[in-house]
Amino acid sequence: MLKVVVCVSGGGTNLQAILDAVDNGQITNTEIVGVISNNAGAYALERAAAKNIPAVCISPKDYETRELFNEALLAGVHKFEPDLVVLAGFLVNIPPQMVSDFKNRIINIHPSLIPSFCGKGFYGLKVHEGALERGVKVTGATVHFVDDGTDTGPIIFQKAVEVKEGDTPKVLQQRVMEEAEWVILPKAINDIANGKVKIGGNV
Ligand code: GAR
Repeated sequence: MLKVVVCVSGGGTNLQAILDAVDNGQITNTEIVGVISNNAGAYALERAAAKNIPAVCISPKDYETRELFNEALLAGVHKFEPDLVVLAGFLVNIPPQMVSDFKNRIINIHPSLIPSFCGKGFYGLKVHEGALERGVKVTGATVHFVDDGTDTGPIIFQKAVEVKEGDTPKVLQQRVMEEAEWVILPKAINDIANGKVKIGGNV
């Protein structure tokens, strides 16, 4: 059984997609052992509680310095003894220590086709605003391993999504979630749990 911790910041629709995929057998050999949010008001915490999954909030607001928050976050993750950490809309910079403690065992979902519209400042709705401003006709989502950089780790899966005439950032965000994120994130977890993802270099 792959023990997975999911880190979230907001609504948690990707978390829900993972929980549903575990329930309906699209993800096998996997147990979601905990959910961590940096935001006490995150609806994702309720989604976890509804499934009786231990859910904790570790917020930077509760710590005097970033270093103390980083230590608490790292300790919080270690407590669950996970095999894999999934960043599912976790809008916090991961402490470097966490990346080295869980080398090749942290994955992230990003709502664009990396290397477009990624890196510092590109998160959530801003990614889709950027895509619409540039006028791209195709966007999508990427699931990748997390390394020391921002959105720079080896890519596991990408899925393209069409941009349509008249799209607003919110409309495009929803389409990218439905057609790409909620598909490739559960698939990546299932493939890792079942030894189908090779780690090292670009996969
Ligand atoms: C998702 O679109 C995810 O790809 C994005 O935040 C949203 C979270 O939604 N993540 C990033 O932008 C990371 N750079 P959710 O809470 O409903 O899953």
